[in-house]
Amino acid sequence: MLKNEPGPSVRGPAAVAPAIDLRTATLRRAEAAPAVPLEVAVIVPTFNERDNVTELIARVERALRDISWEMIFVDDDSPDGTSDEVKRIGASDNRIRCITRIGRRGLSSACIEGMLASAAPVFVVMDGDLQHDESRIPAMLNALRAEGVQLVIASRYTAGGAIGEWDRTRAFLSRVATRLSRVVCRQPISDPMSGFFMITAEALDGCVRRLSGKGFKILLDLVASSPAVLRVAEVPYTFRERLHGESKVDSLVMWDFGMLLAEKTIGRYIPVRFFAFTLVGGAGVLVHMAVLAALRNAQVGFSNAQAIATVVAMIFNFWLNNLLTYRDRRLRGTRWVTGLLSFMAACGLGAVANVGIASYLFASHTQWVVAALAGIAVGAVWNYAITQLYTWGQPRSRRVPT
Ligand code: GDD
Ligand code: MN
Repeated sequence: MLKNEPGPSVRGPAAVAPAIDLRTATLRRAEAAPAVPLEVAVIVPTFNERDNVTELIARVERALRDISWEMIFVDDDSPDGTSDEVKRIGASDNRIRCITRIGRRGLSSACIEGMLASAAPVFVVMDGDLQHDESRIPAMLNALRAEGVQLVIASRYTAGGAIGEWDRTRAFLSRVATRLSRVVCRQPISDPMSGFFMITAEALDGCVRRLSGKGFKILLDLVASSPAVLRVAEVPYTFRERLHGESKVDSLVMWDFGMLLAEKTIGRYIPVRFFAFTLVGGAGVLVHMAVLAALRNAQVGFSNAQAIATVVAMIFNFWLNNLLTYRDRRLRGTRWVTGLLSFMAACGLGAVANVGIASYLFASHTQWVVAALAGIAVGAVWNYAITQLYTWGQPRSRRVPT
């Protein structure tokens, strides 16, 4: 080997990088690029879908035979090892990719991040549990290519579509939600709850910074967040039965849905979480009064009864906020207990602030109702701000270093 000939070597940190000839680098990249440009990226959010991955990929491959595609799974670190399974297949097929998100949950945000990770001009979002009919994708692509269409929704409620074998309650709830969502949709859409749709990268780009990203309703979020009304087409499909694993849609999904509607309507004026927090606070007042009345009936002295009612109401508020307001950051196990303690400490101080402000205003001749309401408002904002930071703040270990 000649002295200056570049051979395979292990570089130390002191090695000087060779000057890159940008012209040949560009040429080389052009040579390496596939002959057909990427047409569609299939985005699949997953949580515990290991047993469905292989079959889904095989079916998509069959359905998209004449289309150039890639598939991006966005997996929230599923305990069943869904990510490993996807990466095992991806190791020998570079159309298959996986984003593993650690310490995060959420169907909508997973879809958004998957789309943002792709350079494709068109995305199709579908579930990873084989319930969405992949053979409809070419028809969706055709519909999208019709003049100016930006979004194609695979719909269960348009002629030719169906909901498959759903129980009555779920079918009913789905219809109610569909009606309600028309409030924020600005256009008639037969199935705004669909988790199966196709959108152009350009349309996504126009609204991605306004998306709520919370909960399940990614499609509704997209439609409601677009600055201009999107040009939409619909393609019918039949929702299939799930074969492996189980649905992650639980009874609280209706709450998520309500919060998304709130965000898209009153969210412009106040943070929706604060709205939820005050709703829970209102329920806490009712609990307080009920406990107080019961204790007074049982001849407990007023001060004692008031103190007990306060503690019970605080525990109730913490429990309900943890369940609903902070559903996405829910505390469990020992963190539930420490969370409760920090919540009670924060609200205790909030009560002091409340009484302090109200007394001050009252002393300076403010009407008693106004003084009381001002005290309550200050206390509520304080409680919200402090518990958001300390009770439901992200633990340090998960914070992204700045
Ligand atoms: N990354 C990620 N994170 N994926 C999730 C999460 C999560 O927190 N929760 C659910 N998923 C994935 C599931 O693994 C599945 O691939 C897909 O999202 C849909 O979840 P399911 O739990 O199967 O939902 P479903 O079948 O009950 O509901 C479907 O139908 C609804 C129509 O009423 C979904 O398509 C909904 O989006 C749709 O609204
Ligand atoms: Mn499903």
